[in-house]
Amino acid sequence: MSEIELQPAITGLSGELEVPGDKSISHRAVIFSSLSEGTSTIDNFLTGEDCFRTVEAFRQMGVKIDEDGSRITVHGKGVQALTAPTQPIYFGNSGTTARLLSGVLAALPFFTTAYGDASLSKRPMDRVVVPLKEMGAVIDGRESASLLPIAFSQATLTGVRHELTVRSAQVKSALLLAGLLSNGKTTVVEKGVTRDHTEKLLPQYGVELSVSGSDITIEGGQHLTASDLKVPGDISSAAFFMVAAAITPNSQITIKNVGLNETRNGIVTALLKMGAELTSTVHTYIGEEPVGDVTVASSSLHGITLEGEMIPNIIDEIPILALAATQAEGTTVIKDAKELRVKETDRIDAVVRNLRKMGAEIEAREDGMVIQGRQTLRGNVLDSFGDHRIGMMGAIASLISDGKVVITDKDCINISYPPFFKHLESLQKKKTS
Ligand code: S3P
Repeated sequence: MSEIELQPAITGLSGELEVPGDKSISHRAVIFSSLSEGTSTIDNFLTGEDCFRTVEAFRQMGVKIDEDGSRITVHGKGVQALTAPTQPIYFGNSGTTARLLSGVLAALPFFTTAYGDASLSKRPMDRVVVPLKEMGAVIDGRESASLLPIAFSQATLTGVRHELTVRSAQVKSALLLAGLLSNGKTTVVEKGVTRDHTEKLLPQYGVELSVSGSDITIEGGQHLTASDLKVPGDISSAAFFMVAAAITPNSQITIKNVGLNETRNGIVTALLKMGAELTSTVHTYIGEEPVGDVTVASSSLHGITLEGEMIPNIIDEIPILALAATQAEGTTVIKDAKELRVKETDRIDAVVRNLRKMGAEIEAREDGMVIQGRQTLRGNVLDSFGDHRIGMMGAIASLISDGKVVITDKDCINISYPPFFKHLESLQKKKTS
C-alpha cells in the first residue's frame, strides 16, 4: 500500500496556488454534455479518479469523449443516441457518479448494471432508489437495491413531487435528472439548502427549471444543447490549504480562481467565525458560478459551534475544520452532521481516531464531535481509511505536528486532488522574506 512520510513545516507556507477543478461541477458538466446534442469542451476538468468514473460510464453508453490534460471534449449526440452498455458500469469510489447516474440510468430505455468499490458498496443507495421507484423506475439490487451492485431495467418514468428526506445535493440532482428524462413535471422539495450546481448549470445547456422557495421544478422531455465551460477551482480542495495557512505559523497564501458558490462557501464563513485572518473576493462569474481569490494568513483561532443549516454547506470540509479546531482557543462542537457517517468512510470515526492518535482531545458523538483546542499534535502513522479527505487532513496536520507523520494509502487522494502533495511542497518552498 502506498504511504508517504511528511515532516513538520519549518518555514511556514507562502505563495499562490490554483487548486484543480471543482469535483461536483466536473461530474455535472460531463453528464449534461453527454446528454446534449453537439460538442462541449470542458476546461479545468478535475482529472481525479471520481470524475473519470462518470466519463467512463458515458463512454460505455457510446459517447465519444476526448481527453487532453484537464480539457475534455464531449461529442454528444443527444439522449436518444445513448446505447446499452455491454458490461456493468463501474462507479469506483464515487458517490456522486452512483447517485447522479442512477437518476439517468433509471430513465433510459435499456438495461444497465453497476457496481462500486468496497467503500461505495457500503454507502446507501435507497435514498435515490426509493424516490426513483415512485417515478416508475424498475431497479433491483443488493438488499432491496439499498446497496450496490444495482440493476436498472427499461422503464418509462413519470414526474412526481418529492420531498427530500435527506439533505443531499446528490439525491436532489438525481431526481432532477430523472425528471428531465421523464414524462410530465417533477418537483423536488428541499428541506434545507444544499449545493445548487445542477440548478445553476442545467440552464447553460438550454434546460429550463424553476426555483421557487424550497421547490425546484423541471419539465420532462427537454433537449439539451452542447455548451463549453471552464470549471472553477474546487473550494473543498482549497479548504485544506486555507486551514493549513491559518494554523501554520508565519504563513500567508492566496488561492486563486476558486469557486465561491454561496451553497459551498461555508468553509470561509466558518473560518471567519473562528477568527481567521482571511479575505475572499469574488472577481468573476463563470455562468452563474461566482469565482474569486481567497487569502489566508496564520491566525489566532477560537472554537465555535457548527450545526443546523450550515452543515450541508461544509459537509466535505468538516474533517479539515476539525483539525483547525484542535488549534483554536476553547472548544468546538459539531452537531447535525450524521451524514458524515456514510461518506467515503465514517468520517466522524476516522477524524476522531486520527486526531486522537496525534494526542488531541476529541470526542465522537453520533451526529458530530466535540474538539478541545490548543492541542499539541504528535507525529504518528495515520490511516487514510482509503478516504481522500481523511488522507489530506492528516497531511495538513503534519505541518504543525511534533515529529513526522506517515499517511498510509495516500493514493486515495487522487480521487479529488491528484497534485495535492506537489502543491503542499510548493507552498513550503516558496518562502517570502
Ligand atoms: C456532492 C454532494 C455532497 C458531497 C459530495 C458531492 C455533489 O454529497 O458530500 O462530495 O456533487 O452533489 P451529499 O449531497 O450526498 O451530501
